[in-house]
Amino acid sequence: QPSSELLSAARAAFTNAYAPYSHFKVGAAMRTSGGQIYAGANVENASYGLSRCAEQSAVQAMASAGERGFDELVVYSDASPPASPCGACRQILFEFSPKAQVFCVNTQGDMLAYTVADFLPHAFELERS
Ligand code: THU
Repeated sequence: QPSSELLSAARAAFTNAYAPYSHFKVGAAMRTSGGQIYAGANVENASYGLSRCAEQSAVQAMASAGERGFDELVVYSDASPPASPCGACRQILFEFSPKAQVFCVNTQGDMLAYTVADFLPHAFELERS
């Protein structure tokens, strides 16, 4: 189960979300095997297609810090049931950590648990060098 530190990081990102168009805030926070936490919020844009999901923001932060994977991810929303990653985010998460545990939680305290691979059967991947 996610630590209170990881949950707090996801909740803080949720609070900071920039969602003036959908008003649908999402926070994401991931923990690496070394215990580092990276968080992200959804960041929308007047040119709607440029909006970026919270999970993508968190992956960008993690990778930009030189990390190449995570053990746990919390996706925090006020939806019921809790929001789960969109298809684009599932591919982006799979790139780094198909085995990671994903906890989709909401402000009411509901929690759904999956692995990244659960979300993306028969995923596309390429050999890396
Ligand atoms: N969105 C996320 O940030 N994470 C999810 O898991 C589901 C959807 C955002 C919310 C809103 O900004 C929408 O996707 C725009 O792309």
